[in-house]
Amino acid sequence: MDFAGKTVVVIGGTSGINRGIAEAFAASGAKLAVASRSQEKVDDTIAALKAAGAAEVIGAAFDVRDAEAVAAGLQQFHAALGDFDVLVSGAAGNFPALMAEMSVNAFRTVVEIDLMGTVHVLKGAYPYLKRPGGNIINISAPQSYLPYEGQAHVCAAKAGVDQITRTLSMEWGVEGIRVNSVVPGFIEGTEGAKRLAPTPDAGEQLRRDVPLGRWGTPQDVANACLFLASDMASYISGTVLAVDGALYQRGSGQFGQMMGQMLRSMKKG
Ligand code: HXC
Ligand code: NAP
Repeated sequence: MDFAGKTVVVIGGTSGINRGIAEAFAASGAKLAVASRSQEKVDDTIAALKAAGAAEVIGAAFDVRDAEAVAAGLQQFHAALGDFDVLVSGAAGNFPALMAEMSVNAFRTVVEIDLMGTVHVLKGAYPYLKRPGGNIINISAPQSYLPYEGQAHVCAAKAGVDQITRTLSMEWGVEGIRVNSVVPGFIEGTEGAKRLAPTPDAGEQLRRDVPLGRWGTPQDVANACLFLASDMASYISGTVLAVDGALYQRGSGQFGQMMGQMLRSMKKG
């Protein structure tokens, strides 16, 4: 894949899966902009992306819950790098919690980051997307369509993200902008996976639920993003692409219940 001369913006691109995506675009010669809340993580990522081969890299620290800060950051990226060829929106927060046990503010926090954050990022970037030819990739999760106990907040937020993908593929598709979601399965070594499967037993249960028999890697997800952003995918828009080793086909599996059982037993203890 050759992304030389292309501008790629990755929001939430300073760790885990999203950083893997940014590194893959860097290795393909793109100009990159990354953002997250921590300036330290942004600086560390800028150095890594330069080393990975990016033509140019900038970054900014902001919280996706702050619409004005997001808009200002994106304006700054546009002034430095020009129209956006690719926008990856992947900032998210998660913790396991039963609905009855979590506060309204806890639920709202995840909705504000995952769903409203996506709204802020997409609306902030809209004026700067190349048209025709711009590409949006929203990073979703299996929770969008699979219910897991202890994940009502994430399920609600990510389902909303995917419905935005589908709707904007029509609204913005007429301007030549493609909009897709990528759904990572359980990806090894990531913060999200650590939070949902904190013990070796839980990790093994998860692996057994995956027909391909292994956890995913950040590179698996990055490969899908490179493809979707390339001309090879020029007629693909409005799709929700699972990169999950066929996890979806088995549904929530036993893991969907296990987290609830674990949280209930912690409550009793
Ligand atoms: C219950 C919790 C909680 C927990 C926080 N809260 N953690 N409630 N159980 N474990 C509640 C708090 O008590 C508070 O409510 C409210 O949530 C906000 O908490 P804060 O700590 O003030 O929020 P904030 O500092 O903004 O941090 C947001 C965060 C944090 C989501 C809580 O964990 C974070 O920054 N996460 C980013 C990294 C991350 O989560 N990465 C994984 C992404 S994976 P009260 O009522 O007390 O005020 C993912 C999907 C993965 O998204 C899918 C895997 C398959
Ligand atoms: P991660 O390492 O915690 O990545 C989250 C990124 O978002 C970080 O760069 C974080 O940096 C940033 N971020 C978090 N809250 C933010 C906020 N309020 N404003 C701005 N930036 C914020 O998690 P991950 O596990 O790799 O997950 C990445 C994406 O993949 C998420 O969208 C997640 O839902 C999705 N996903 C993950 C898995 C998995 O197995 N891990 C599975 C399915 C889907 P700061 O802390 O500096 O803000």
